Amino acid sequence: MTTTPDLHAFLRTRRSIRRFKADRVPDSVIRDILHTATFAPSAHNRQPWRFIVLTDSPAKQHLSDAMAAEFQRDLEKDNISSEEITKRVNRSRERITGAPVVVILCLDMSEMDAYPDARRKKAEYIIATQSAANAGMQLLLAAHAEGLGGVWVCSPMFAQETVQKALNIPTTWEPQAMFLLGYPVDTPPVRERKKLQEIAIFL
Ligand SMILES: Cc1cc2nc3c(=O)[nH]c(=O)nc-3n(C[C@H](O)[C@H](O)[C@H](O)COP(=O)(O)O)c2cc1C
Repeated sequence: MTTTPDLHAFLRTRRSIRRFKADRVPDSVIRDILHTATFAPSAHNRQPWRFIVLTDSPAKQHLSDAMAAEFQRDLEKDNISSEEITKRVNRSRERITGAPVVVILCLDMSEMDAYPDARRKKAEYIIATQSAANAGMQLLLAAHAEGLGGVWVCSPMFAQETVQKALNIPTTWEPQAMFLLGYPVDTPPVRERKKLQEIAIFL
């Protein structure tokens, strides 16, 4: 029987995993993870999350090439040496191609409420992105439950159109994040957390 301490331990032992074994992840496991992700709470229960799943090498290669080109253009605007740019671009490319499963989490605003004024439009947009993020978190926990490792990668936020075009994603699906998933090579130590007294006020 799973006890409450077991569940806390489960939640506290999730780690961002960035190095994966080459082993394939069965399709049924990927589907179970996505299914569990959809049990996340969402504003008005509109479920604005959408997922693109990549497991084929050519698809991952194509995405990593497109994202690398944009990443390179961005880094060239910063004050960074060309060696450093090449290193960072190659690392980013290898992370995508080296992950057995790549999931792009998208946001679809089309079923969210529409408002005539900017203030409420902005609030509704943020509420929708919060909802999509919940699915992202639940996806990582579901992967953890399957003995998989995963990491949330924010680079699609800096290359939304590029990702959309590279994967031929419907235009209303806005890329928000990328999840790299696979069986972990190792489990890194827990990263330090702020103390409760620094981040919580009990009134
Ligand atoms: C919104 C968000 C964006 C993140 N972006 C990246 C990223 O681009 N690359 C990366 O390696 N990790 C990324 N992470 C993972 C964090 O670095 C990680 O969660 C944090 O360091 C705590 O480590 P832990 O997940 O192992 O507890 C991101 C996490 C979140 C929630």
